[in-house]
Amino acid sequence: MEQRDRWATKIGLILAMAGNAIGLGNFVRFPTQVAGNGGGAFMVPYFAALFLLGIPVMWVEWVQGRYGGKYGHGTLGPTFYLMARESLKPKSALIFGLIGGALAFATTTLLNSYYLHLIGWSAAYSWFSITGAYFGKNTAEFFGNYLTNHAQVFLFWGITVVLLGIAVGQGVSKGIERWVKVMMPLLYVFAIILVIYVFALGSPLGDPNWSTIKGFEFIWSPNWSYLREHLYEVLLAASGQIFFTLSLGMGIIQNYASYLGPDDDVALSGLATVSLNEFAEVVLGGSIAVPLAVAYAPKIVPPEVLAQGSTETLNWIAGEFGLGFSYTSLPNIFVEMGTAGRFFGALWFLLLWFAGFTSAIAMYNYLTALLEEDLNIKRSTGTWIVFALYFILGLPVVYIDGYLDQVDAWISFQLALLALFDIIVAVWLFKPDNFWEELHRGAYIRVPGFYKWITMIVAPIFLIFPLAGTFTDLIGKTLGWPARIAIL
Ligand code: PHE
Repeated sequence: MEQRDRWATKIGLILAMAGNAIGLGNFVRFPTQVAGNGGGAFMVPYFAALFLLGIPVMWVEWVQGRYGGKYGHGTLGPTFYLMARESLKPKSALIFGLIGGALAFATTTLLNSYYLHLIGWSAAYSWFSITGAYFGKNTAEFFGNYLTNHAQVFLFWGITVVLLGIAVGQGVSKGIERWVKVMMPLLYVFAIILVIYVFALGSPLGDPNWSTIKGFEFIWSPNWSYLREHLYEVLLAASGQIFFTLSLGMGIIQNYASYLGPDDDVALSGLATVSLNEFAEVVLGGSIAVPLAVAYAPKIVPPEVLAQGSTETLNWIAGEFGLGFSYTSLPNIFVEMGTAGRFFGALWFLLLWFAGFTSAIAMYNYLTALLEEDLNIKRSTGTWIVFALYFILGLPVVYIDGYLDQVDAWISFQLALLALFDIIVAVWLFKPDNFWEELHRGAYIRVPGFYKWITMIVAPIFLIFPLAGTFTDLIGKTLGWPARIAIL
């Protein structure tokens, strides 16, 4: 048998995994979640979810990935099957294989199909910033026009996805690894330049009420009463964010880990992935968009809201913050900055593009590996089959209103569900002692013993919240969906 592709260098592996995890989730979704969930109130359940869910599931997924890779598999179907075989007969183990395979397939197709459009938008906006295309215009209208100009939308989508296809087609060590080795250091440099610039801005409008420091305070001052009142909601949002940002419950951490050698470390590497992601999320992601929005509040908030005072203004920003905001309000801010705004605007959207690209590549590779290893289709052919698939699945994002919301609800539920199966299969069915032994095979660190219990018991119990919450949300949105179609 031909030797399976492997990461050529440790640094390449770590950067690829960090690239996988660091995405739009860090720079757009995180600020949105913090701002919309009581600022500092959000951070308490966020860190609880990080330690009780994020880190243990990350380890579980690395262990699964390396284990599958040892038998030549980088997808979840065969990996779940092999692990479940430790305690089940082939037929029962097959059920778990099917569940894992189906969930990972559903997520890597659905999530990436819309994610690719979002990063296409970032590419477009990087270009519009540097050329000053939206300067002097109504940015909300400009965005609306962009979205309905399908030729333009597909152009930037196309550039992005062709580049992804090329990188994936070159393979893991010769493609993905080389690309991330260039893109990830640049990503950190872009983000750090932006953060320094934001810090240095102070009160750009000359009004001390509106400064970037106020923005930091807004995110970081703990709001206990908010937490007490909205505990369930905030807990839900926090655990959802942990899954999304760490790329858990998707199958892609396992896929990347499957290109390890059987004795390569997973314990420290898994932890390094989490740390690099959290730095990019909490430190960098939290320090750009929200402080900018607060510092320039008078320029982006409607005058009638502004007149109600600063609390109302901040609440308005918190409520509006999100994807659309990034493409309508932030451009307004870049316009305010004048010529510097062209540069910083372009840098911001390029940062989003890099972040998104190095995440999307992991999903793209998952599907390519599925075709290559499970169906024996050559990688070079497989990449273009995946390209076609993403093209088709991306069409509703462009043509059906409200589709994004709908898919997002499904995905949030799938992530939590797959994480639960991760634990059932790799810890319980594979047997806790085996799991612990695998985690420490070739490991550079020893994980404290209580983490075994956290992984076996605490994490699955914790998972009940996101499972129940996302399920209710999903039902609500899906039932409301036919009515929306009818309106269309
Ligand atoms: N962790 C990624 C993020 O934060 C999530 C993701 C991974 C999304 C891969 C799409 C593809 O954006």
